[in-house]
Amino acid sequence: MSKRIEDFTLKENRRLNNDLFILELSGNSYFPSLKPGQFVQIKVEGSPETFLRRPISIHDVDYERNTLKLLIQIAGKGTEKLSNLEKGETLNIIYPLGNSFSLPAENSQVLLIGGGCGVAPLMFLGKHLKSKGFKPEILLGFRNSDRIIEYDEYAGIGPVYLTTEDGSKGEKGFITDHPVLKDRHYDHICCCGPESMMKAVAGYCFKHDITCEISLEHLMACGFGVCLCCVVNTVNGNLCTCVDGPVFNIKELKW
Ligand SMILES: Cc1cc2nc3c(=O)[nH]c(=O)nc-3n(C[C@H](O)[C@H](O)[C@H](O)COP(=O)(O)OP(=O)(O)OC[C@H]3O[C@@H](n4cnc5c(N)ncnc54)[C@H](O)[C@@H]3O)c2cc1C
Ligand code: FES
Repeated sequence: MSKRIEDFTLKENRRLNNDLFILELSGNSYFPSLKPGQFVQIKVEGSPETFLRRPISIHDVDYERNTLKLLIQIAGKGTEKLSNLEKGETLNIIYPLGNSFSLPAENSQVLLIGGGCGVAPLMFLGKHLKSKGFKPEILLGFRNSDRIIEYDEYAGIGPVYLTTEDGSKGEKGFITDHPVLKDRHYDHICCCGPESMMKAVAGYCFKHDITCEISLEHLMACGFGVCLCCVVNTVNGNLCTCVDGPVFNIKELKW
């Protein structure tokens, strides 16, 4: 799919908590068909120390209103700068980048697993799967109840199971401690979050012979396969996370 470099207009910058916010961006031309798991590269204007674009997953798409949503966590200077953008400002974006989550086999019972800001691509994915007739369930993990975001929006897609590390809401512990993983059967799991969490989910899926795709958030520079700074070791050799990923079947990865 060809890539576009376009200016988007900020419609809303909504703060969810201390370090998470959602940018709703309006495109100035109609979107091509976007796929869940794909990402954009954002230019952070007026910031010489962050001259490399910042990769951010597509959180949600509204083709009728021609808008995109990005869920962003403040991690450093670039994302801090983005958090201060105001309605009406312009953002230059390269999109759509990367591959996407694949469609599960027909009648598969699907579970989407997200930890922290890793829930970002799962909204678009969940809505897409629902539109294709699947009934995805969602397992989300956060540090504590104050960190829970967009519960109602995920609940609109399917049943949501929650864990918090301190037990302040949902099951206490890590995502892989949730009883739903023992009590229910899944054929296909899609996961995004901290690498330690994705490795634990991958271990569970290997043990139970479940198809599993994860989305890697490696450091990136160019975002389209030129600089080789995002290489990941796979059974098919070294691959670029930005073009061959960010979504990989766990069987491909040499973790
Ligand atoms: C394909 C892809 C999709 C992503 N989707 C999202 C998303 O939807 N929402 C979101 O908030 N973030 C996402 N990220 C991570 C995001 O790109 C980084 O947090 C961001 O680039 C940091 O920029 P910064 O200038 O604020 O921080 P910097 O000053 O560049 O770095 C601050 C800290 O963040 C770490 N960091 C930088 N880049 C990454 C990275 N790629 N992954 C993890 N840690 C990083 C640095 O090592 C450093 O410790 C994604 C990354 C990739 C590769
Ligand atoms: S970020 Fe440059 S090759 Fe992937």
